[in-house]
Amino acid sequence: MTKIFAHRGSAGTHPENTMIAFYEAERVGADGIELDVQLTKDGQIVVIHDETIDRTTDGTGWVKDFTYHELQQFNAAYKFADQYGVCRIPLLEEVLAWICSKPLLLNIELKNSLIAYEKLEQKVIDMIRHYHLEDRTVLSSFNHNSMALCHRLAPVIETALLYIEPLYEPWHYVRVMQAKGLHPYHRTVTEAFIRQARHHQIAVRPFTINGESLMKKMFQYKVDAIFTDYPRQAREVLKKT
Ligand code: G3P
Ligand code: CA
Repeated sequence: MTKIFAHRGSAGTHPENTMIAFYEAERVGADGIELDVQLTKDGQIVVIHDETIDRTTDGTGWVKDFTYHELQQFNAAYKFADQYGVCRIPLLEEVLAWICSKPLLLNIELKNSLIAYEKLEQKVIDMIRHYHLEDRTVLSSFNHNSMALCHRLAPVIETALLYIEPLYEPWHYVRVMQAKGLHPYHRTVTEAFIRQARHHQIAVRPFTINGESLMKKMFQYKVDAIFTDYPRQAREVLKKT
């Protein structure tokens, strides 16, 4: 059965990558959550999609130029007016402390394609180990060398390669990168591709699957999981499919 990952929490209905978005994902029956991480000036792992805070908070500037304490002054829910009050940018540790007592899968996307955050891979892995989440966490990134490094640092933790354009010889490539999964932009995914992936024992989890017809299509293809901003709707569509 295809798993449903709540993309950035329940990002279609709640402020993305905030604790309330993750609580909502659990409440509506998602199988797992997806989140994005960056590093602050003082080396803390924070959960935020962009390299800057401009789009998702009421502040402006690069995440890497603020300490974690400084980032706390900004509201990550400001786009939702007063609907959710004030939400802070969470630490990865807050999410892991919460999720470790929940029956949820976790996908941590390392946002290290534009910025070479020092020791991000090791810091994330140490945190996963601290909360004993190795067996239900998938690490992913558009930076495939970073995923190869994660595999070397912690072979037991699954890694997956994110991509938008189709990969050349994907089954060979994924083996060379020692990854276990592919996280493609959904337009590159066909039923034949899923069949081949299964033959090569590679998990395929396309993004970002919003809207009933696209959800249905991915469920009929029997992809391993989807990332969606609307986990409640995805659960209902999956029941009907
Ligand atoms: O992991 C799937 C998806 O989150 C990748 O794209 O830009 O939403 O982080 P993005
Ligand atoms: Ca992401």
